[in-house]
Amino acid sequence: MNGKIGIFDSGIGGLTILEELKQILPHEQFIYYQDSKNNPYGEKDEESLFKIVTSIVEFLIAKDCKLIVIACNTATVKCMKKLKKIYSDIIFVGTVPAIKPACEANYKNILVMATPVTIKSTRTKELIDSNKKDYQNIYLVSCEGLANAIETKNNDLINKLLHKFLDSYQTMKIDAIVLGCTHYPLIKHEILEVIPTAQLIDSSRGVAKEVKHQLELNKIFGNYHQTITFYTSVDISINN
Ligand code: DGL
Repeated sequence: MNGKIGIFDSGIGGLTILEELKQILPHEQFIYYQDSKNNPYGEKDEESLFKIVTSIVEFLIAKDCKLIVIACNTATVKCMKKLKKIYSDIIFVGTVPAIKPACEANYKNILVMATPVTIKSTRTKELIDSNKKDYQNIYLVSCEGLANAIETKNNDLINKLLHKFLDSYQTMKIDAIVLGCTHYPLIKHEILEVIPTAQLIDSSRGVAKEVKHQLELNKIFGNYHQTITFYTSVDISINN
């Protein structure tokens, strides 16, 4: 089947998902759109975010994408339902905080780190309501500014923010931390320096498996030599 797999994020975070996709889909052609110009998505209002995301989706459709991976929790929880309605012939695979696998693994004290928009979203509440067992505690930590500090590689700010958000949990025996923003797996080492005993759980493997499942289900596997094409909004502006 012809057609490419489009992936986008507000910057470098979605690369953590692209890495998994590359491993399990060796015969696909990927297009990665890195929207660094509009980072952070996690602090935008719904209308502006939807406008930005729609432009990227149209760009990827014009580049012949058969499936689009929203490699961003924030854009998924805010825009995916509407996108599926508008572009009903495109297959979308989204990314949500890995609350379900963390609950299924029976961790008792689970901390969820995500952008302010993701933390406040109905989707996050739904994931907790449908997966949390009575004995489990879930602590939501809204990490304003962290994704942008990672995007701009500001190491001093990253460390300062991690201490601000996590220090008060250091004595609480946190068993697992759900990395509910695709930028956060890029700073696993720094997170573990603040809470060394926690297991870190991200969504990348789950998203990659779902993409493979959708290709199988719709019989649209590619048979190419794997290629990856990168676009960035810093060079190609499609949002104005
Ligand atoms: N990487 C994105 C996420 O998974 C968004 C980061 C941002 O732009 O705020 O939520």
